[in-house]
This record gives sequence, structure tokens and C-alpha cells, in this order.
Amino acid sequence: MLKESFILRGVEFKNRVLVASGTFGYGNEVKEVVDVNRLGGICTKSLSWKPRDGNPPRRIVETPSGMLNSIGLANVGVHAFIKEKLPYLRTLDTRIIANIAASSVQEYCDVLTLLEQEEGIDGYEINVSCPNVKEGGLSFGTDCAMTKQITLRLRALTEKPLIIKLTPNVTHISEFARAVEDAGADAVSLINTVVGMAVDVHKRKPKLSTVTGGLSGPAIKPMALAKVYEAAQVVNIPIIGIGGIMTAEDAIEFLLVGATAVQVGTANFIDPAAGTKIAEGMRQFAERQGITDLEQLVGALETNKDFSVLHSWL
Ligand code: DHB
Repeated sequence: MLKESFILRGVEFKNRVLVASGTFGYGNEVKEVVDVNRLGGICTKSLSWKPRDGNPPRRIVETPSGMLNSIGLANVGVHAFIKEKLPYLRTLDTRIIANIAASSVQEYCDVLTLLEQEEGIDGYEINVSCPNVKEGGLSFGTDCAMTKQITLRLRALTEKPLIIKLTPNVTHISEFARAVEDAGADAVSLINTVVGMAVDVHKRKPKLSTVTGGLSGPAIKPMALAKVYEAAQVVNIPIIGIGGIMTAEDAIEFLLVGATAVQVGTANFIDPAAGTKIAEGMRQFAERQGITDLEQLVGALETNKDFSVLHSWL
């Protein structure tokens, strides 16, 4: 019998595939087509204190092997989440990770404090890296001291798993991973989207209303793997790998470079059952290889560090 589970701060996740924030709503829109109980967990769309309409259209553009978005943290707000979305999520047999976004340190604290009073939330993922808002977002996530400060403040407010979601739009993501580990985070998730742009040559205009947006999908997978590998060299806390995972083999790549678990995002827009299929594919891969615990794959990449360019500056 293959062991698929992993544990974060005493909370057991039944398998290593979660769905990424913003790609699965609040879990209720797909209940007729996906057995969500076969996921390791669901990361909710980012929650802010007040509801947000998000950015004006156009907010999503397809690009080669990728998706460019500028949603602008559209969400129902934490109060409506508790009243209208959490009752359904509580009925599920999978872990519920509330993703929080905010435009001030105090707002992060207020949202988390309110959620702490509710049953049914298994942990938090903190979005310090939305590329599509003017306040907070990337201005927090690209500032290592600020990222650390947010982590310290939130750590003091909860005993539940605290995951900090890191942006790749920095020079050395390992510095950020180390800073949040020092501040008491239980895990890091990476990577969030990469700042990108698409242009309509006929109109001579950017395709997105906000000019730039966040790039996701297979186009960013090699970059995501390199960032996870880099972070894995310096932290002891688990890393949740994200970035263009479409297949079980993609997920295994992330485990090998050091991720304990993964999140599936853009693939959900093609097939909302992608996460459950990837979890099943990982089981089959492991069984074919005679692996008894998926943990055996974590960081099991064979590399010659003498030839590693990364290790020359790490
Ligand atoms: C949003 C978009 C992203 O690509 C992201 O990583 C986080 C948030 C958004 O616009 O809501």
C-alpha cells in the first residue's frame, strides 16, 4: 500500500496534490464533475476583508503554453466567504486552505483573526505576491523584510499551518524562503505567477486592461522547477511546488527537485479534474517504480553539485 500523505504542523493531507488558489473558486462550482475529496486540499481564491470586483476586462489572455491573467483579486470578501462558501467546504473530506490577500499588514491580520473563529479551515496560505494590484501584492512580496514581518505577525495569531506563497519576480527566491522560515512559517508555496505582457499589434494596445499580468501554465514550469530547487537548498520547511503542472510526471519532477507537495492551477481551466487525475497518475508511477512512500521521491534528484551554476552563488 503506497503512502501518499504528508503532514504540515500536525495536519495530515491525504495526498500531495492540492488545487491552486484562484483556479478552483471555493470548490463548489465543480462538484458535479469532480470528486474533490480525492484532492489533498483546496486553496481558496484569495480572501480580502471587503469584497472586490477586481480589474476591468480584459482579464485573461491565452499565450503560447501559458495563460496571462489580471483578475485583481476579485473575491467575495471574508464575511461572505464565511456565510456562503465555508458551509459547503466544511462538508468535504479534503483539507481547506484559506488563501489571504491584503493591502496592509493589518488587513492580513484582521482576515486571519476572523477566520480563526470558524470551524473547517485547516490552514492558511498567504498571498504576498499578486502582480495585479497597486497596493500590497508584489510591493510586499518583493520586499524581503516586509514578507518576513507579515509572516511574524500572522504566526503570532494562529497555531494552524501557515504557508507563505512566494513570487518568482525576485532575484533570489531562496532569501525569501529563508526569511519566512526564520519567521515561523510552516511551509512555502512557489511559484506564484511571473509578470508578463501580451500585445495586440493591430490595435497597438496591450491585450490586458492593466497592461501587465501574471503568467502561468507550462510556459513557466522550467522556471518554477529552478526556483523550487533553489529554495530547497536552503530551507528545512516543506516546499509546495507550483507552476505549469499538467501531468503526474510534471508533479514528480517537482518532488524530485525538493517539493513535498504540489499545487495544480492552470490545468484546472482545461480540466477541473486535473488535480485528481494527477494524484492518481502519481500513485501509478510510484507503484510501477516499487516506491512505498512518495516521501522517497522528495529531493531525490541526482545532481553533480560541482557542475551546478546555482551552487556557485547560493
Ligand atoms: C491574481 C493573479 C495572479 O496571477 C496571482 O498570482 C495572484 C492573484 C489576481 O489578479 O487576482
